[in-house]
Amino acid sequence: MTEACTFVIFGATGDLARNKLLPALYHLHAAGRLNRDTRILASGRRHQDREAWLAETRSDLASSVRGGLSEEVFSRFADRTDYIRGDLNDAQFYELLHQKLSEKQAYPTDIAFYMALSPADYAGVIEKLDQVGLLEETKGWRRVVIEKPFGKDLQSAGQLQSQLARHLHEEQIFRIDHYLGKETVRNILVFRFGNALMEPLWNRNTIDHIQIIHAEPQGIGKRGATYENSGALRDMVQSHLLQLLTFVAMESPISMAADALHAEKLKVLKSIRPIPADRVNECAVRGQYAAGTVQGQSVVDYRCEQNVAADSRTETFAALKLHIDNWRWAGVPFLLRTGKRMAEKQALVAICFKKPPQQFFRASHVHCEASNWLLIGIQPHECMRLEMTVKAPGEALDTRQTSLDASFRRADETVNDAYEDLLLDIINGDRSLFLSYEEVQQAWRIVDPVLQAWEKPENDLHLYPAGSWGPAAADALFEEPCRFWRNTLEPCGCGMG
Ligand code: BG6
Repeated sequence: MTEACTFVIFGATGDLARNKLLPALYHLHAAGRLNRDTRILASGRRHQDREAWLAETRSDLASSVRGGLSEEVFSRFADRTDYIRGDLNDAQFYELLHQKLSEKQAYPTDIAFYMALSPADYAGVIEKLDQVGLLEETKGWRRVVIEKPFGKDLQSAGQLQSQLARHLHEEQIFRIDHYLGKETVRNILVFRFGNALMEPLWNRNTIDHIQIIHAEPQGIGKRGATYENSGALRDMVQSHLLQLLTFVAMESPISMAADALHAEKLKVLKSIRPIPADRVNECAVRGQYAAGTVQGQSVVDYRCEQNVAADSRTETFAALKLHIDNWRWAGVPFLLRTGKRMAEKQALVAICFKKPPQQFFRASHVHCEASNWLLIGIQPHECMRLEMTVKAPGEALDTRQTSLDASFRRADETVNDAYEDLLLDIINGDRSLFLSYEEVQQAWRIVDPVLQAWEKPENDLHLYPAGSWGPAAADALFEEPCRFWRNTLEPCGCGMG
């Protein structure tokens, strides 16, 4: 059971709060994982009062929570919530907030403030909270949760950090990356450091290359204005995919405590070789979706989406080839790829092992011998799959591929949403799955040269039809023949790899 606290959500009528935070809090409440006295104070501008906000929240939850909404559970959930309407730019709003939070016995004195806001608002809100004394820790702790992106490049991240540091000390800042809350992502740590079996194989001697892939059929929805200033590299690669890479590539930490994990992740990020400006076209590919058909539905061109410029050069697809300059990984390419309006939803890590030094056997119907692959499915299929070569039945010593499968959970087990565990970590003050500023800094150091090159109009932007696996140009990131993107967990139909 967690301790009692007050959870203030700024931006409570926005998509993040409605689609992720409130459902996560509801699930925690329903499962009895929130302290009986924990209170939720939602702040937004759109609804006039608590009743209107609650009605919308009830209807959102009814369509999103696992197993359907229980009226009884919702009614007890509603009892611990309240709503305060206000304009974040108005100093008076913070006075009102202060008064409300000081109401006798209504709110626990430990307070988490969740910034479910546009990043441009973070610094201003924090400054005003401080001005009215709401960040003082005299009566209880204060924690502030910051969503990605933390800045839009190395320089702006530095500016934001200095603004925050004027009002908060590092232990109060929770930089959230929801990928680290996914159980399948944390399972990478358990798989690597809970089994001695893999360690001797986990290096340049046996691994040919590693792919970290995220694809989604969704477009940008109503986020056109925000996405135009971001693009796939900032939105997905700088945060989620580089964090996944650190889990795959890090050395064993001395413990699973926050400082130990941060230190090892940071070492990996620091060892990533930046892509030189004159090699960006060789090591990075960007694309933008054109009209097409996704899962049977016709969809429009990115440039025809709401709030997107008709001549936009924002990338909705990004693929990068990175190298880690350390003993374990020297010479092993890490290929990262993400895209919107792709054929399927798929997040996975695919580890391709080297081929045997000699080939004695014949693989029927293929022109390249197969490799062993370890596939770690993150979503929607959570699994571990090891692909091996076996003898095909029959007289000849022909081979074919088979796979050893381990599912992550039993059929009767559910997986919590990433936000559920992360919200509990905030309440418990556990920062191990949150990002240190140094990690954010290093991640910008890695992507900044690519962002700068992509700002230049002469740099290639490849169009790809919606519903495909992205531009063919991304295939050229593989240096060797017979290498290819593992788009899905399906066995290699082509027999290559
Ligand atoms: C978010 C990005 O951080 O992650 C979105 O801003 C993206 O653009 C989303 O769609 C993907 O998350 P998940 O958990 O659905 O893979």
